[in-house]
Amino acid sequence: MLVKAAMFHRQILSKLATRSLVRNVSASSVPEMPPCDFKPQKYEGMTYSDAKKIRDNVLNPVINVVTFYKEPVMINQGHMQWLWDVYGKRYLDMFGGIVTVSVGHCHPKVNKALHDQIDRLWHTTNIYMYPQAHEYAQKLVSKLPGNLKVVMFVNSGSEANDLALTMARLYTGCYDIISLRNAYHGMASSLFKLTAHSPWLYNLPSGFGILNAMNADPYRGIWGGANCRDSPVQVDRQCDCAAGECQASDKYVDQVEDVLRHSAPKGKIGGIFLESIQGVGGSVQFPKGYIKKTFDLIRSRGGLCISDEVQTGFGRTGEHFWGFEAAGAMPDIVTMAKGIGNGFPLAAVVTTPEIAEVLGRANNFNTYGGNPMACAVGSKVLDVIDEENCQQVSHDVGTHCLTELAKLRDEFEIVGDVRGKGLMIGVEFVTDKESRKPLPADKFIPIWETCKNMGVLLGKGGLYGNVLRIKPPMCITKADVDFSVEVLREAIRQNPV
Ligand SMILES: Cc1ncc(COP(=O)(O)O)c(C=O)c1O
Repeated sequence: MLVKAAMFHRQILSKLATRSLVRNVSASSVPEMPPCDFKPQKYEGMTYSDAKKIRDNVLNPVINVVTFYKEPVMINQGHMQWLWDVYGKRYLDMFGGIVTVSVGHCHPKVNKALHDQIDRLWHTTNIYMYPQAHEYAQKLVSKLPGNLKVVMFVNSGSEANDLALTMARLYTGCYDIISLRNAYHGMASSLFKLTAHSPWLYNLPSGFGILNAMNADPYRGIWGGANCRDSPVQVDRQCDCAAGECQASDKYVDQVEDVLRHSAPKGKIGGIFLESIQGVGGSVQFPKGYIKKTFDLIRSRGGLCISDEVQTGFGRTGEHFWGFEAAGAMPDIVTMAKGIGNGFPLAAVVTTPEIAEVLGRANNFNTYGGNPMACAVGSKVLDVIDEENCQQVSHDVGTHCLTELAKLRDEFEIVGDVRGKGLMIGVEFVTDKESRKPLPADKFIPIWETCKNMGVLLGKGGLYGNVLRIKPPMCITKADVDFSVEVLREAIRQNPV
């Protein structure tokens, strides 16, 4: 009886799978997905509609605001760059669980490290010694330059930035900290307004000691030109700079100085937070030289420079392991999360011994920070990044992806900008290239939904929600990129504006 019921359930699922493919796109126009020989397990759990009811009625209501797609995808299994939904449909994951799956879903080597650790020890907290945290701490700091040699383990990017904020204030004795408009640094209440992105802000008293400077966006900002970016694809704007100079970068640094001039007591500041490439803000790259010059300015006013590498770290930008290295800049504190654990809750703050010392002014404790399972995973992720040349993959496949996407910008009036480095990519949609007005949601969303129906999961972001974010696991291939770009091309054609 049970077997019969399960078979019936499977037949329904497989029918639904076929239907979900053909319902939204005509089969002939769907580009062919690269093959994959991995066989996912059959799904035999709760039905889609039961899960949807629970999602609607029992889970945090905001979940329906952030859930992707009109018909949300219910995932059954993942393997490397692939995901399968509960109906058995395969997707290419070009967003990596929001830039988090760094080396691949359920990567076999990382899975094995976790299994081994699960059978040995789950948890003790750092009131005791256990080797995993020590081995991992040593391995992680070996990846950082200079005197960035002390690590604090936490569980999320928000916790990492909250701790960095505390340390900068304690170390400098200055309460005010700067971030850029359009930055996203997390959702802890201490970080409201450090995250300077209105869709993510509550109407609550917040932002004490936070100052926002003008964003340094060469595409959408006041200044920017065709030589600004450290990317294979440049902004489609005029540039009048002489060789070796970047007027845009100088003018945006001047805006930070203006904030200091007007809002920082006696011009002194506790520090600045910068993402090396803005993530949630829509993969915005600053003009060349901006990060270094801004760090120099902040240091000259007694502040600390904090690189938020939550999205850009661990080889994602291709040329370097950390995003700030491409800028020739040296931070005082680096915060990291997401890709560090390939999806396991793990995050860290790395700083110098002198700065770390300030935490000793009181007890500082984090129950799960540096948990043995998290450290075993983090350590294996670092091994895999090295062994499987993930950084090189990011560089080679990412450059190919950017070059192919740039062709879409030439083909379609609504593709206004293509930007990024390595596998940290953004494609900004506009009504037309001249005005650069954001493409409204009712025109943008159908393109993005069509990509999903054809089997490609893409992120979206930017202040206006009009930027496709492409940040897949660092195991994708050029064939995967060709497929994704073809899908996007077809999706744009099928949804004329
Ligand atoms: C740059 C950046 N910093 C911090 C965070 C916060 O990380 P978490 O969501 O793990 O708290 C995010 C999350 O998207 C991020 O993109």
